[in-house]
Amino acid sequence: MRLLKTILLSLLTLAQIALCAEDYYKVLGLDKQASERQIKSAYRQLSKKYHPDKNPNDPTAHDKFVLVAEAYEALSDAESRQIYDQYGHEGLKQRKQQGGSGGGHDPFDLFSRFFGGGGHYGNQPGQRRGHNVEVKVPISLRDFYNGRTTEFQWNKQEICEACEGTGAADRVVHTCQTCGGRGVRTVRQQLAPGMVTQVQMQCDACGGRGKSIKHRCSACGGERVVRKPTLVSLTVQRGMADGSRVAYENEADASPDYVAGDLIVTLFEKEPGLEGEDNPDKVDGVFFRRKGDDLFWREILSLREALMGDWTRNITHLDGHVVRLGRKRGQVVQPGHVETVAGEGMPKWDEDGDSVYHKTEFGNLFVEYTVVLPDQMDSGMEKELWALFQKWRAKKGVDLHKDSGRPEKPVIHDEHEHEHEEL
Ligand SMILES: *[C@@H]1O[C@H](CO)[C@@H](O)[C@H](O)[C@H]1NC(C)=O
Ligand SMILES: [Zn+2]
Ligand SMILES: [Zn+2]
Repeated sequence: MRLLKTILLSLLTLAQIALCAEDYYKVLGLDKQASERQIKSAYRQLSKKYHPDKNPNDPTAHDKFVLVAEAYEALSDAESRQIYDQYGHEGLKQRKQQGGSGGGHDPFDLFSRFFGGGGHYGNQPGQRRGHNVEVKVPISLRDFYNGRTTEFQWNKQEICEACEGTGAADRVVHTCQTCGGRGVRTVRQQLAPGMVTQVQMQCDACGGRGKSIKHRCSACGGERVVRKPTLVSLTVQRGMADGSRVAYENEADASPDYVAGDLIVTLFEKEPGLEGEDNPDKVDGVFFRRKGDDLFWREILSLREALMGDWTRNITHLDGHVVRLGRKRGQVVQPGHVETVAGEGMPKWDEDGDSVYHKTEFGNLFVEYTVVLPDQMDSGMEKELWALFQKWRAKKGVDLHKDSGRPEKPVIHDEHEHEHEEL
């Protein structure tokens, strides 16, 4: 803190310094209000993007990679960020000259603290790669329909920040005295008198690493890695399939011993919860069932509605818009009838999403009608209905067709429908 003050005071005497170097926030694609997490996440993404191992044919990638590391180091430390915000690059330069801590890491070192593998990955000979990690994330149908940026958490193994992956409290790693850094010891064994063989054994002093430390880091107990809940941001695109997989390159468990594998996320549709968090807008749509790009819904009609028509239903869809169902008076709905409402299904996923290049299309909504008959009728109503049907039976005779109350000659004579009547 005293150091900070002296720097600030010495800088007060300087006039406004012209900034010629690139703005660190811009380098990371952030603004001045960026949170620590955003700074970290920007570094993770950009350092992978510009890593020279991944851009062998782009000579500018190396410079960008170095610049991203520089920007991260300047902005990830609170004190250095404050100086940078007030006095820019010149401020940081002065701080360094006065022996301020932090910064000045090898950019590959910094990279290896995030992704392991000694700062490299890909086709380095003998480079080990960690396992991919699979995570399943439940997503509501509503989010599949509307699309959403959300977050999920998992227990990730990370390289210990306190000791920067060395395992040592002072971050200093020594060469193992016992094995001279080779990780193995050669032991002479006498098999029989006069018969001696040499056996190589793993060095027990350093556990085969060839390195030793004086004091274990208290944060990781010398393990060099720690497991902790990690938030990952996830974009659910409209219309993604149930079971879609999203890969996060090199975002699986990290270790100084290998390059981190990929984190593979499978999105699966979760059962709708009643009311509550899953359905804040209380839409009917959460109870739709999905099959590919189509949606299914069951609607219940009373006997009167099915027989006489003259009804409406307003179903609120997953984004809150209303789908109107209904029949005019005289329009009959058969039990089990399935109505197709075109264009009211799921949005069809497309990599362009909704853009000038592409307009989202939708599947169908299939509405299946169930007709409920009263299990007991009001006696007055029962008598009236009885009388009514008796009157029609007397007039037309007892016959399945005539008893149905249908007119003698259907307006549209459909062969298919006719067959159906004889059943
Ligand atoms: C559905 O909405 C329409 C128009 O707003 C309205 O006339 C009708 O009564 C509503 N039907 C039901 C069952 O709420
Ligand atoms: Zn540690
Ligand atoms: Zn050793």
